Amino acid sequence: MTVLVTGATGMFGSAMVDALDRAGVEVLAMTRRESSAEELTRGNVTGVVGDLDDPASLPMLMERVERMFLVSPMHADLGRREVAAIDAAVAAGVDQIVKLFGAVRHEGDPLDVQHQLAIEALRACDVPWTLVSPQTVMETNLLGQTEGIRHENSMYGSAGDGRIGMVALADCIDVASIVLQSAPAQWSGRNLEITGPAALTYTEVAEQMSLAMGRAISYVDMPEQEFAAMLIEYGFPADDVELQVLCHFRQMRLGKADLVTDTFEELTGRPATSIRVWTSAHLDAFETD
Ligand SMILES: NC(=O)c1ccc[n+]([C@@H]2O[C@H](COP(=O)([O-])OP(=O)(O)OC[C@H]3O[C@@H](n4cnc5c(N)ncnc54)[C@H](OP(=O)(O)O)[C@@H]3O)[C@@H](O)[C@H]2O)c1
Repeated sequence: MTVLVTGATGMFGSAMVDALDRAGVEVLAMTRRESSAEELTRGNVTGVVGDLDDPASLPMLMERVERMFLVSPMHADLGRREVAAIDAAVAAGVDQIVKLFGAVRHEGDPLDVQHQLAIEALRACDVPWTLVSPQTVMETNLLGQTEGIRHENSMYGSAGDGRIGMVALADCIDVASIVLQSAPAQWSGRNLEITGPAALTYTEVAEQMSLAMGRAISYVDMPEQEFAAMLIEYGFPADDVELQVLCHFRQMRLGKADLVTDTFEELTGRPATSIRVWTSAHLDAFETD
């Protein structure tokens, strides 16, 4: 069996490629650049060039695989890009499509509209499909705070007192890896929402991180526009700030990330990774110089 992993140089895609490679599964790791394809190639992994903005580049890749793990960046074109991948996979007769979605209730915001376009295409096709839906991920939320934690023992955001079932990337990848190695019918039509073991406010997240680090970390809550201005001042691309940061914090603030599921335990038999355990495993990232 060979699995096509799109977005293979990104956060989820690269972790997915590693996990499947370790499990002995053949992988086509898709990137838009020839140099990245060469870097990705090792062991069970063959780096291949494909572009979701260029549908003509996809059929020849789909012909070489039985399954697809579909992930693309949070972008205003996510829907069109992912529909192109789904159409190509269906035309090539793949056996299973696993799409990365999300478990924060974005409910009609611009990111959700894009994901729903892809989900509609899945619902309309006759290939078994499964959604793997992480809550907001610790790597994105907490590694994104390393500079503030290192230099000021502070994290910044606009989540207010919203509770968040923040989840470790590795837990999401474990679930996706199991689904991609199961019979396609087993998880067909399911939306597997994966969370951490508890829904905490950002202040409580900071307390758990403080316990793991042995020093006090505080959370500084900011009005959304001030937070956006700070991110842009520190170099975050202004065009990406809404879809990649603000819409997530807005939903957290509104309580739309207040979710805890037992999906991870159901599939793996292990408890989900807590903030404290995750932080203990990432202490190097937060150490002061
Ligand atoms: N972060 C979270 O907390 C979280 C939680 C739940 C769900 N999600 C979902 O995760 C997804 C984003 O995943 P990610 O963070 O892993 O993505 P990412 O790192 O931003 O991007 C993945 C890769 O996509 C490739 N790419 C960019 N444009 C492309 C195109 N036109 N065609 C093909 N490939 C393209 C890029 O690789 P190359 O440059 O090598 O081509 C990039 O490395 C979104 O669906 C988001 O909603 C995120």
